Amino acid sequence: MSEHRAADIATTSAMYDFVQERESAARTYANRFKLVFERASGMRLYDLEGREYLDCLAAAGTLALGHNHPRIQGAVEEFLGSGALQQALDLTTPVKYHFLKRLYQCLPARFAENARVQFCGPTGADAIEAALKLFKTATKRNSIIAFHGAYHGMTSGSLALTGNLTAKNFMGGLMPDVHFMPYPHPYRCPFGLGVEGYRASLAYMEQVLSDPESGITLPAAVVVEVVQGEGGVIPAPIDWLRGLRRITAEAEVPLIIDEIQTGFGRTGEMFAFEAADIEPDAVVVSKALGGGYPLALMLYHKRYDAWTPGAHAGTFRGNQIAMVAGTATMDILLEDELIKAVQEKGEYLAVRLAELADRYPRVGDVRGRGLMWGLEIVDPDGPLDMVGNPPPDGMAARAIQRECLANGLILETGGRHGSVVRILPPLIINPLELDEVVARLDRALCAIHG
Ligand SMILES: Cc1ncc(COP(=O)(O)O)c(C=O)c1O
Repeated sequence: MSEHRAADIATTSAMYDFVQERESAARTYANRFKLVFERASGMRLYDLEGREYLDCLAAAGTLALGHNHPRIQGAVEEFLGSGALQQALDLTTPVKYHFLKRLYQCLPARFAENARVQFCGPTGADAIEAALKLFKTATKRNSIIAFHGAYHGMTSGSLALTGNLTAKNFMGGLMPDVHFMPYPHPYRCPFGLGVEGYRASLAYMEQVLSDPESGITLPAAVVVEVVQGEGGVIPAPIDWLRGLRRITAEAEVPLIIDEIQTGFGRTGEMFAFEAADIEPDAVVVSKALGGGYPLALMLYHKRYDAWTPGAHAGTFRGNQIAMVAGTATMDILLEDELIKAVQEKGEYLAVRLAELADRYPRVGDVRGRGLMWGLEIVDPDGPLDMVGNPPPDGMAARAIQRECLANGLILETGGRHGSVVRILPPLIINPLELDEVVARLDRALCAIHG
């Protein structure tokens, strides 16, 4: 234990209380335990008392390469001492040039060929807001289609597209004319049809976009996540994504894919939509894009570039540190076959988590892709729903989360009623660490099963 930590064991309590008393009641995970985190490396965090934790939250999926990756850190340190501009609005700089070159290498070639980019920093929600504005301007239409369970952010427009009602209750005056369609969700199928439900979702969408009596004017865009993250880790079937692309293209409705959480290797592809081999009209990215620093942008087909100079702006769009860190991140993702390894690790994790589901009736469903997984926790004795599954149990999910923390494993809960235990480690997690994550989760499940 370092000297200053040893000096005052009460420091954790004092620091925690100081922050907790001042920070808003909107705090979530950090509300539930009295810990102060001091250091981090790779996928490990260390609290003030020197205890080690495996981090399966990774700053909500932001830290693709883990905490303090030496190459990112090296690039940032070199940049900080270089005398280069730190903030540059939308000026051209060598840093921006190299960042964009790398970014375009990451994009599928067909999409890259016609892609324009709008820097929208600093957060994912900012990029969503920009996308809404651009596509309304370009199409001269007002309505937007989003999906049940979607999460696109907490600002007025992005919250209007978000499914979760806790954040929306009492928020009259959000962006109007947003319409929600059923997202394919085999385990909680809104049509009660299970795995075949995605066909009904497509049929419904096709009907809405073509029916002159649907009540919904032709939308400026459809906005979708390929794997819903905050909504409870729900991967859309490939055939649904292809169907959605076909239907939107036929109706001449732009398709915006939100890759804020899934982008840059998270699902075992550079971008999650690549698994379906579709071409969206726009892609919105953030989180891993800035290598741990805030940066968000929108990429879109040049045919929609309807803005005039100044039509969209923002002070922190030229965050050069984030571009340096993001370039280093993309260098590593492109060079190291890391994304192929994510696929393999995901397949391994799927098997190990399915074993847990076999042993513990409280694990109702296991779903995910790459290194983005969720275990839906249920009350096995509760009444079955239309698909034949027991009800979600958010209390039990939180109890598992607490047990995991006691075992040195940090993970978040999400989804309906907070019933999904989420596993979102840095992509650099190694096989031993994967096993350790499963072992600690196993212990937590065992503890709550009694
Ligand atoms: C899919 C998706 N879209 C948008 C956002 C909003 O990003 P931010 O929190 O940076 O505003 C998030 C955040 O978790 C997200 O997961």
